[in-house]
Amino acid sequence: MGLVRTLRSVASFAVPTVSRHKRQIERAANISDLRAIAKRRLPHGIFDYIDGGAEDEITMRRNSAAFQQYEFMPRVLRNVSGIDTSTTFLGRTLESPIIFSPTGFTRIAHSQGELSVARVAAAHGLPYCLSTLSTRSIEEVAAVSTGPKWFQVYVWRDRALVKDMLARAQANGYEAIMLTVDTAVLGRRERDVRRGFTLPPKLGPGTIIDGITHPAWTWDFIRHEPITFSNITDPNGGPTNTAVSLSYYISEQFDPALSWDDLAWFRSHWNGPIILKGVQSVADAVLAQQHGIDAIAISNHGGRQLDSAPAPLDLLAPITQATNGSLPLICDGGIRRGSDIVKAIALGASVCTMGRSYLYGLGAGGEAGVEQALTMLTTDLERTMSLCGTRTLAEITPELLAHVPVGRQ
Ligand code: LAC
Repeated sequence: MGLVRTLRSVASFAVPTVSRHKRQIERAANISDLRAIAKRRLPHGIFDYIDGGAEDEITMRRNSAAFQQYEFMPRVLRNVSGIDTSTTFLGRTLESPIIFSPTGFTRIAHSQGELSVARVAAAHGLPYCLSTLSTRSIEEVAAVSTGPKWFQVYVWRDRALVKDMLARAQANGYEAIMLTVDTAVLGRRERDVRRGFTLPPKLGPGTIIDGITHPAWTWDFIRHEPITFSNITDPNGGPTNTAVSLSYYISEQFDPALSWDDLAWFRSHWNGPIILKGVQSVADAVLAQQHGIDAIAISNHGGRQLDSAPAPLDLLAPITQATNGSLPLICDGGIRRGSDIVKAIALGASVCTMGRSYLYGLGAGGEAGVEQALTMLTTDLERTMSLCGTRTLAEITPELLAHVPVGRQ
């Protein structure tokens, strides 16, 4: 008895959790651990659609690697007892500088899909941007979220369809649109080419074997309603859930003729902020500012479009300079840690996005996994700020960073 008492006084024992899967999720230490769990749980085709990028995935790898070029020049003795990670973006006060990026077909990771992501974002008052190619509709997401909601716009050849979606988003309280401008055609995702991946996922011998070897995902998938393009009513009256390759779908439906001249059309059909998502050059950031765009997301679509594109982090400083620091900048791509957010803020970002980071959480553990991914980033952010001696985001300035000396990168 005495021994047990002594042990109890020095050790606290966690109440054992029944499910091995739940235990794995609870023990995930970072986004990379969530990714590893998602990789085990999701069929290979689904995981690769989420995890993969275009061609040789050079852009995708560099998005994350860019953060490693910098080290911190931390300050000490700064009384960091009260860290404040809040910011104001497009008129909204946010508890942290984090936006939930739009991701297509989110229900392939987990049946709850967009609803889970929207609920987690809303619980923290952070913006969730719903994709045009979502698997829950504008209305369904609005029904579960009183938080800030944005709508991502892909421009269909059929402008009446776009106009209708904008009106529905406006009527349902979405506050801003993100107009994606990096998808004139779909990037070549070679993992999907090899697997013959279609959306919605199509049943065939390969997918059946993939499903059998990933029973938890398959059980969740077959018990819920089919995955469809929830926002789209086919203008020709045909079904919108026919399995097709995404590149075929996009080349059929999207308007590659989109140009700067079309922005006036969006102004006349959208009453609220317009964010351009997919700006990848200083020249285009300046043009966006000249066209009165409210904010830009410096983004290469998570490395899923043009390969060998610049990393968003590398564009922040030159774009901040060229736009006199007066165009709100979103850093989209490669963020896996709170320290990445600190680096992006130091170089001029107002806010950062999470895309794959929450999808790994969703694929690993549903809504709890999304919550955990967000917690990982926010606790990392607070800790990094404390260790850097910065109490507020305003104190995160370029002086906080130095280039890692050549040869030690
Ligand atoms: C993608 C599209 C759907 O990146 O945004 O797959």
